[in-house]
Amino acid sequence: MSVTEFHIPAINLMGQGALGQAIELLGKRGFKNALLVTDKVLVATPSAKDLLQKLEALGVGVTIYDHVKPNPTSSNVEEGLALLQKAQCDLVISLGGGSPHDCAKGIALVAANGGRIHDYEGLNRSALPQLPLVSINTTAGTASEMTRFCIITDEERHIKMAIVDQHVTPILSVNDPDLMVGMPSHLTAATGMDALTHAVEAYVSTAATPITDACALKAITLIAQYLPRAVEHGGDMEAREQMAYAQFLAGMAFNNASLGYVHAMAHQLGGFYDLPHGVCNAVLLPAVEAFNAQVAGARLADIATALGEQDASASAAIKAINALKDKVNIPRGLKDLGAKEDDIPLLAANALKDACSLTNPIQASQEQIEQIFRDAW
Ligand SMILES: [Fe+2]
Repeated sequence: MSVTEFHIPAINLMGQGALGQAIELLGKRGFKNALLVTDKVLVATPSAKDLLQKLEALGVGVTIYDHVKPNPTSSNVEEGLALLQKAQCDLVISLGGGSPHDCAKGIALVAANGGRIHDYEGLNRSALPQLPLVSINTTAGTASEMTRFCIITDEERHIKMAIVDQHVTPILSVNDPDLMVGMPSHLTAATGMDALTHAVEAYVSTAATPITDACALKAITLIAQYLPRAVEHGGDMEAREQMAYAQFLAGMAFNNASLGYVHAMAHQLGGFYDLPHGVCNAVLLPAVEAFNAQVAGARLADIATALGEQDASASAAIKAINALKDKVNIPRGLKDLGAKEDDIPLLAANALKDACSLTNPIQASQEQIEQIFRDAW
C-alpha cells in the first residue's frame, strides 16, 4: 500500500448562476488588478462584457490578454506574462475552455517562479504556488479549470509540453452551463469525447484509486447519456448541466490517476499538426484501448457497463466508444485529420517521452505505438 494524493481546487462552483456567485466571492477577497486570459471570440461575448463590468464595479482593474491560440504556445505565455507584469496584476482569471486555462496557468506559474515555462515541463518542477488563478469554464471537456495539468506547445520543438504541477491548480473553478449553451455542436462533441477519454484513461490507469474509479465510472455514464443530447440540441440545459458535471468528474479522476497513451499520442498530433485535442483523443481512444485490453480487460468490461452495454466485455466497451464517436460526428481516422504516415516514427518516439504515458496500464515499444497510430488511421 502506498499513500495517494487527491487534488482539486479549494472551491468549485457548479450550475446555473455560478458565475455571479464567483464574482461576489472575488469581491470579498480584495484583489486589485486582474489579468483576464481569453480569446478573441470569447472576449466579445455578453458573458465576458458582463464579467468585466462587474469586476470594474468591485474596483478590480482588468488587463485583457485575448491572443490565446487553440493550442496555446510558449509565446502566448510570454506575451500574457509581459502584460501581467506591466499592470502588476495580483490575480489571473481565465475565461474559456482548456486553451485559456492552460495559458493562464503558464502565466501565473512563471509570474511566481521566474524563468520560462519550459523550465517547468514534467512533474512538480516549481518551488512556489502560482499567482491566484480563477478559471471560468465555457466548454465541457478538458476540465483544465480544476486540474494540475497545463499543456503548452513549444513552438521550436513542435511538441506539447506537459506541465503537471500541484502549483497550477486554480483557487476557484466555475462551471456555469449558461456559458456553455452557445458552444457549437462540433466543439461540444470534441470536448465531450475529451472528457470521455479522461474518464477511460483514469479508470485503466496504474494510479487509479477507489476515489478516482467512482468519479470515472459516473462520468462515463453521464457522458453516454447526455453527450448526444448536448450535441444535437445545444439549448438542452439539462444535458449541458449534466455534461458540466460529467467533465468535472472525469477531471477529478484524471487529475489524480493521470492518463495514458491516448493523451500521450494525441499531444503529438496536436503539437505537430495543430489539431483539436478532443478530436485527436476520440480517434485514438478505441485503438489504444484495444491494445490495453490485453491487461485491462476487467476494467474495460466495467466501462462497457457504465456506457450502458448489456455485454460486460472489453470488446463491447470499444464498440460502444466507436458508436458514440460516430453518433457525435467525429472524423473516422487520423487520415481524415491530415496526419502523414511518414511522421509516425517521430510521433511515436515523442509519445513515449510524454508524461501521460507513464500510467498507461501496459508499457508499449516504439513499434507497438507506431502500430496503434496505424490502427487509428
Ligand atoms: Fe484531454
